[in-house]
Amino acid sequence: MAVAPLAPKGGLEGIIAGRSALCEIDGETGKLLYAGYDIADLAEHSSFEETCWLLWHGELPTQPELATLAQALGANLEPRATVWDVAADAPECADPMDLLRTQVSLLGMSDPDCADNGEHADHAKAIRLVAQSGVLVATSERIRTGLRPVDPDPTRSIAWNLLHLLHGDEPDEQDVRAVDVCLILHAEHGMNASTFAARVTAATLSDIHSAVVSAIGTLKGPLHGGANERVMELLRQLPDVDGTRAHIEQLLANRKRVMGFGHRVYRTEDPRATILRRHSRDLGERHGDTRWYELTVAVEKSVHQLKGLYPNVDLYSASVYTSLGFPQRLFTPIFAVSRMAGWTANIIEQHRDNRLIRPDSEYVGAPPRPYVPLSER
Ligand code: ACO
Repeated sequence: MAVAPLAPKGGLEGIIAGRSALCEIDGETGKLLYAGYDIADLAEHSSFEETCWLLWHGELPTQPELATLAQALGANLEPRATVWDVAADAPECADPMDLLRTQVSLLGMSDPDCADNGEHADHAKAIRLVAQSGVLVATSERIRTGLRPVDPDPTRSIAWNLLHLLHGDEPDEQDVRAVDVCLILHAEHGMNASTFAARVTAATLSDIHSAVVSAIGTLKGPLHGGANERVMELLRQLPDVDGTRAHIEQLLANRKRVMGFGHRVYRTEDPRATILRRHSRDLGERHGDTRWYELTVAVEKSVHQLKGLYPNVDLYSASVYTSLGFPQRLFTPIFAVSRMAGWTANIIEQHRDNRLIRPDSEYVGAPPRPYVPLSER
């Protein structure tokens, strides 16, 4: 069988690996749309719950539909209690992404619809996954840091509960809105690495939890979702705004990548970074500490001048999350909480019109040769 040649740079760059009605990205002009709606409009006017419905159903919800979804999410906030044993027993060094992956895996085994990959069951499981992932991340953090877990409020939004469960108090409404915007912006992004991983798993007709577990493991890597934690590491290493350029010069001279820059698809600024830059400044000003915003701007200027690279979504999410009081180790899990919407939508779409995803590889190893017995080697 004839095999298409490898893309010149590998990494499946520029290869169309499937069809989807969920998300459109124009990398040249920096446009991102979910089911036809510009991300800037959604960030301005929508909510994460509304975005979930849009991704799952292809249309914005009516008022009764949104109320039904909010009720279903609220009714499904509490995961099985066994997940808290996993959090309590996890070694101190365990990465919160590994913990989330393990907890989702555990929930998959015990899900009431675990054996059903039909669309109705997939939707029910998607609601449970989206409702519970924020609870898993925030409550596990409280357990691991010796704080008493607090109860989620089923009448409140995912964003409100995320802040409440993590900090244990009544969150500030403007902070809740900032979290909601972050959740919307990170919800979906086409055939990115973790979504591709989820689709490959789903395309074997494996279940939604298994596909999400594949996705969580893929998002964790520093070239993908794990970059936001590395951005914060970098910001903490910087002496001050004036010393930033020299620090970046040194990194680039050592052929190191600056996290939060560059993208496989965007040839200009990632539109999510444009929105998060504004939130980073506003949050810094409101919380009386613009240090992280100013350092991020300094990094952005230096990297652009020295390397011509534009920021991606992870650059400004680091300072935004820090201003919201999220610990650095939870940045990638919080990304996973929002991407759960996109992963589940992609898995539902894959199951609806499935064909096994099984590409070829180009063999570059030894030519055919006779087997050499062990005694003669
Ligand atoms: N810092 C320094 N140099 C970079 C960076 C960066 N952040 N990004 C790309 N480059 C350089 C590469 O060194 C390479 O240069 P070379 O041709 O001289 O070797 C060139 O730009 C092209 O890079 P590739 O790795 O081939 O581009 P690719 O499309 O495969 O990579 C990626 C995209 C992985 C995002 C890359 O830009 C990167 O490593 N960025 C840093 C990590 C990061 O921020 N990831 C988050 C992405 S957004 C998300 O996943 C949510």
